[in-house]
Amino acid sequence: MLCLQDNMDQKDEKPNCRSLVYVHNPHLDALKEDFLYHFSLGTGTHNLPEMFGDVKFVCVGGSPWRMKSFIEYISAELNLEDPSSDYPNICAGTDRYAMYKAGPVLSVSHGMGIPSIAIMLHELIKLLHYARCTDVTIIRIGTSGGIGLEPGTVVVTKQSVDATFLPRFEQVTLGETVVRNTDLDPSLAEELLRCSKELDQFQTVVGNTMCTLDFYEGQARLDGAFCSYTEKDKHDYLTKAKEAGVCNIEMESSVFAAMCNLSGLRAAVVCVTLLDRLKGDQLSSSHDVLHNYQLRPQVLVGYYIKKQLKAKSQRS
Ligand code: URA
Repeated sequence: MLCLQDNMDQKDEKPNCRSLVYVHNPHLDALKEDFLYHFSLGTGTHNLPEMFGDVKFVCVGGSPWRMKSFIEYISAELNLEDPSSDYPNICAGTDRYAMYKAGPVLSVSHGMGIPSIAIMLHELIKLLHYARCTDVTIIRIGTSGGIGLEPGTVVVTKQSVDATFLPRFEQVTLGETVVRNTDLDPSLAEELLRCSKELDQFQTVVGNTMCTLDFYEGQARLDGAFCSYTEKDKHDYLTKAKEAGVCNIEMESSVFAAMCNLSGLRAAVVCVTLLDRLKGDQLSSSHDVLHNYQLRPQVLVGYYIKKQLKAKSQRS
């Protein structure tokens, strides 16, 4: 297997102006127009700068329903609009992803797993680039399985690691494996932790997040359709993960971190833990308990955005 360090990772290839959203693809210049197929939006059909030029915060999460509820929540928090107003899905021309906007906040669903979020991010990064957005912060709000944490704990990711606990994302391109960096912005993670302390509503920790290719065998569950290991094997593996600094497990953070690094986006991953994987595999808590847990990343990120906008308005 040939492993190449991604040459797009080299800082000196990034633009001087770090605040722009960067695309690294000379072939785009040859396109007369670019149709963002999975959003059903395009440079030839939509005025992207007018529609999205003011975006400063992008929140992404797996479920379209959760991303709609986030936009309703944040617009009420920011007093942006009548809380009873309906938010149209900007990507109504497709059922792949859903997108909602309220003032400077964009909320986009990404489905489950690395391929689904990667496709969405290619088009989102191009959209932000074509819209000439500047100083954009992007945060994934999601759910995860915790390791040795009380369920309901929120984890802000320091580094996303793979299933062997290494901080890397492997992209196979032209049959060769390209290794990409999965660091997330440390100052943003610290600020989110500070916000959680100010909020004082639930436990939040900063730690590593393991990103897997699957929910069942990939996360050492014993309750999938297939399983070729023992309960002891599972416990040994999760204990090793914990010893390597892994606090939680989900399925999107590695490619999210890698692609945000390439595009110069300031990025964070904020996931609530729905269960302690050292104690079980099934998500058997009540609907109300799980719903309450899922609101926590929204509440934390909503508080962060509100604080940032308040500080900005005081400066200007
Ligand atoms: N999401 C995951 O990927 N794993 C879990 O255990 C829970 C949510």
